[in-house]
Amino acid sequence: MRRRFVVGNWKMNTQLDTALALARSTASEADLVQRVLDVGICPPTSWIVPVSEAIASSSLTVGAQDVSPDTDGAFTGDVSATMLKPWCSFVLIGHSERRSIHGETDDLVGRKIQASVAQALNVVLCVGETSAHRASGSAEDVVRAQVRHALRDVNFTDASALTIAYEPVWAIGSGQPATVADAEAMATAIRVWLSTEIPSIAERVRILYGGSISHGNVLDIVRANNVDGVLVGSASLDGEQFSAIIRLAANTD
Ligand code: PGA
Repeated sequence: MRRRFVVGNWKMNTQLDTALALARSTASEADLVQRVLDVGICPPTSWIVPVSEAIASSSLTVGAQDVSPDTDGAFTGDVSATMLKPWCSFVLIGHSERRSIHGETDDLVGRKIQASVAQALNVVLCVGETSAHRASGSAEDVVRAQVRHALRDVNFTDASALTIAYEPVWAIGSGQPATVADAEAMATAIRVWLSTEIPSIAERVRILYGGSISHGNVLDIVRANNVDGVLVGSASLDGEQFSAIIRLAANTD
């Protein structure tokens, strides 16, 4: 049985005071459902330390939004897995905004995964097709290729070290989520791929859906087969709405 996982990705939002308030209210909500649900937040890099300290006694976990593929050296602006490790338990890798705005390739995504695994940081690998891919019928092939490429040089033996977030690019920030049927079909395609390629952990790896999740659609999405939780962007910035999402996702039906 996979525990559901709800992750809030704050992106480049919040100031220190709003970040701390949001982290504390999310931590209270996470503690109420910790028996059945894992909750994580990914604050901007500057707030990782104060947020981690503020919620240290709660069950809420903190993740980074990105990580360098290198350990240290002349990489201006980058933050390595060793620097994140004291404060974070997981890291988002390959978010579509990193891929499109910063030109991240599947190779780079794979190197970031290796760097994180080397530091025992859990990975949330983000994958997803564009609207053009979906229109041309290649969505599943594109997503499978992203997963294959990202994981090809990593030997995952612990299922909890890997989460895969399926986030169609066209659904992110658009108010237009994937249908439950499409989210379920892609999550199932990813699970089938895992069963063939990494059978020892395939049934225990969590697969999330992300893209325009709100309190209005989360329950149907988390009830879909092979979907084990959600990655939430803008709705995770609204304390009340994110709390509602957490409560609904904890519904164990
Ligand atoms: P959204 O973002 O919930 O605002 O669509 C999701 C994401 O980018 O992870």
